Amino acid sequence: MDTLEINWVELRERARQSATKSYAPYSRVTVGAAALTSHGTVVEGCNIENASYGLTLCAECSLLGDLARCGGGELVAVAVVAGDGAPLAPCGRCRQLLFEHGGAKLLIDSGEGAEPKRLDQLLPDAFGPDDLDTRSNA
Ligand code: THU
Repeated sequence: MDTLEINWVELRERARQSATKSYAPYSRVTVGAAALTSHGTVVEGCNIENASYGLTLCAECSLLGDLARCGGGELVAVAVVAGDGAPLAPCGRCRQLLFEHGGAKLLIDSGEGAEPKRLDQLLPDAFGPDDLDTRSNA
């Protein structure tokens, strides 16, 4: 795979735009996410809340729906922002969801002027697809 140029400014802006599409009538925390894929495309998502609170979809969840819809590939770099435009650290569940599609090296935005973090900094010793092969009794 060729080395992809990561345009963090664009990713943050696309995440901010996505946050404007959020459905968050309960928490009023709007969230947007945008990611560069290994195909060189950018996919986006926003949070979608539900009256049954626990069924809320985080912005990263709908981003993964967009990833599938747009032809898949691996995630290379992700920016997640809240409605105030500032970066938001992915929740624990979303770290696991992102790991499946980006692996340990996936870069997570830390905001302007800060070094992005690798996903394995946010989710050390992750359980992932490889474990299903190596840890199965079958
Ligand atoms: N939220 C996300 O969209 N992503 C995260 O990683 C953390 C939380 C959303 C879910 C909910 O709609 C709102 O933020 C408040 O928890």
